Amino acid sequence: MGNRLAGKIAIITGAGQGIGRAGALAFAAEGATVVVNDLHEETAQETTRRVHEAGGRALCHVADVTDSRAVDALVERCVAELGRLDVMWCNAGGARPESTVEMSDAAYERVVALNQHAVFYGCRAALRAMLPQRSGNLLITTSGAGLGAVHHLAAYGMAKAAVVNLGKSLAAEYGRHGIRANVISPGPMGSEGFLSWLATVEGLRERFESEVPLRRLGTPEDIARTAVFLASDEASFVSGVVVPVDGGIASQYPTPQAELPED
Ligand SMILES: NC(=O)c1ccc[n+]([C@@H]2O[C@H](COP(=O)([O-])OP(=O)(O)OC[C@H]3O[C@@H](n4cnc5c(N)ncnc54)[C@H](O)[C@@H]3O)[C@@H](O)[C@H]2O)c1
Repeated sequence: MGNRLAGKIAIITGAGQGIGRAGALAFAAEGATVVVNDLHEETAQETTRRVHEAGGRALCHVADVTDSRAVDALVERCVAELGRLDVMWCNAGGARPESTVEMSDAAYERVVALNQHAVFYGCRAALRAMLPQRSGNLLITTSGAGLGAVHHLAAYGMAKAAVVNLGKSLAAEYGRHGIRANVISPGPMGSEGFLSWLATVEGLRERFESEVPLRRLGTPEDIARTAVFLASDEASFVSGVVVPVDGGIASQYPTPQAELPED
């Protein structure tokens, strides 16, 4: 156990599996008390149980983050039971690749609700708790698809690009109140959601692995460790940035990359 987040109270949305679960475990291992949010009770309870088993502190709160009143209630419960809110990590999100022209209104609205509206609701509710404290830390999970185009993820990419701007805007607006805001951009991860999608197309996992400069998929723990840094006082002068945690994939100019035989 470390103490880089000792005494901090953090909410992590979508913490029932994948990146959010790894985040909850990493935050708690560094001394934070974590409010574990997810839509699914069973997985949220399991993350909470694992935090307790590892000797950490966590509270489970099931809520649909696309419902603004449910998000307000999540933050209100955190402040009522734990006294304050130091870190709000709006992490819940995701989408399956889909043809843009065939996408229904309902599917489009679901993607935007989860990946854009929910992040706004989370940051807004957190700011209401953080402003009186004159301190706080907002973390947002975007995606490589929010930094550049990824085929068949137009609506998701649009929403993920929007939250990049939200992070920068909130850093600019609320920095004078002692509040930081930063955005993490995961590349392809070996999380449950992404692995199950990769498995639907033969050879897709291998293609991803061969095009990442570091030649592997990321792990939820790679993202979690970056989030611990950004949430900690070590990053006390870091605000308004977008941190790709992607093995170098976003750094490449989008041209066919030629390797020389001796490479
Ligand atoms: N996995 C990747 O390769 C990858 C890449 C880039 C960005 N991301 C982003 O990282 C974040 C986490 O991704 P992941 O791979 O861990 O996903 P995941 O699908 O493994 O987990 C997402 C969690 O969010 C929860 N969730 C979904 N809708 C919710 C709602 N309305 N309210 C509350 N919880 C809800 C799910 O139940 C699930 O537990 C997402 O924002 C995703 O878009 C992931």
